[in-house]
Amino acid sequence: MLMPVDVRRKLSLRFLVSIGLLIGSGNSCRRLSDALLSNERKGMTAQVQEPLNIGVLISGSGSNLQSLIDHIDEGTLSAKISLVVSSRPDAYGIERAKKAGIPVLVMNREAYADTSAANQRIADALKDAGAEYVVMAGYMRMVTAEILDAFPDRVVNLHPALLPSFKGAHAIEDAYNFGVKVTGVTVHFANADYDKGPIIAQQPVEVLEGEPIEALEQRIHSAEHELYPHVIQLLAEGRVSVCPETRKVNISN
Ligand code: GRF
Repeated sequence: MLMPVDVRRKLSLRFLVSIGLLIGSGNSCRRLSDALLSNERKGMTAQVQEPLNIGVLISGSGSNLQSLIDHIDEGTLSAKISLVVSSRPDAYGIERAKKAGIPVLVMNREAYADTSAANQRIADALKDAGAEYVVMAGYMRMVTAEILDAFPDRVVNLHPALLPSFKGAHAIEDAYNFGVKVTGVTVHFANADYDKGPIIAQQPVEVLEGEPIEALEQRIHSAEHELYPHVIQLLAEGRVSVCPETRKVNISN
């Protein structure tokens, strides 16, 4: 039976979430309680929970930033974006942030001449803003120890392919040119190993017969706009933890 693409997308997201919940309940990580990333949020009920304070890092269009803003406005994401950091002064995402009344730290090429100084400046600004998590949304600069150590296991990234396949900056094109039949979207914790941090969630996107890459790109971005707010909401609810022994991410129910 043929189903409209958006219906299939919704069903596959629900399927992934329920798989996550099943895996979560049968978790075998012995040190799970030590590994809870959001211990202080655990146990808070949705009603009394403070919105999760996040800083968002961007470099371009900022459509994923917009999706987070929209989900917050609609009440489906319990978060507050306290700071947007743009690595480029010409990123359209800056306009989106300003329109939503979010403070923006705008960096430029010169500011990144010293990578560790740039990362320290960003880490300080995020701390000053009270960020609990750092959310990378199309950020095209290196995130180094200055940020990673200031936010241990609290930096998340979005990648437009099913990791560990097609790492790097041209993931959609690389997967398309390879001829894969299914690609998708990955949300993972960022660490010093680029695109290799523990995977929190993935959503498959089927490559349709004969479809141009532009159409696939659009469907991948739609999947991102759905999956990323969903994962940030899981973080806000304190339901995401990493097992230090296996690196596997557990989503509790
Ligand atoms: C997204 O496809 C993301 O996966 C990748 O960069 C793109 C950013 O898009 N890392 P936008 O700036 O959020 O529109």
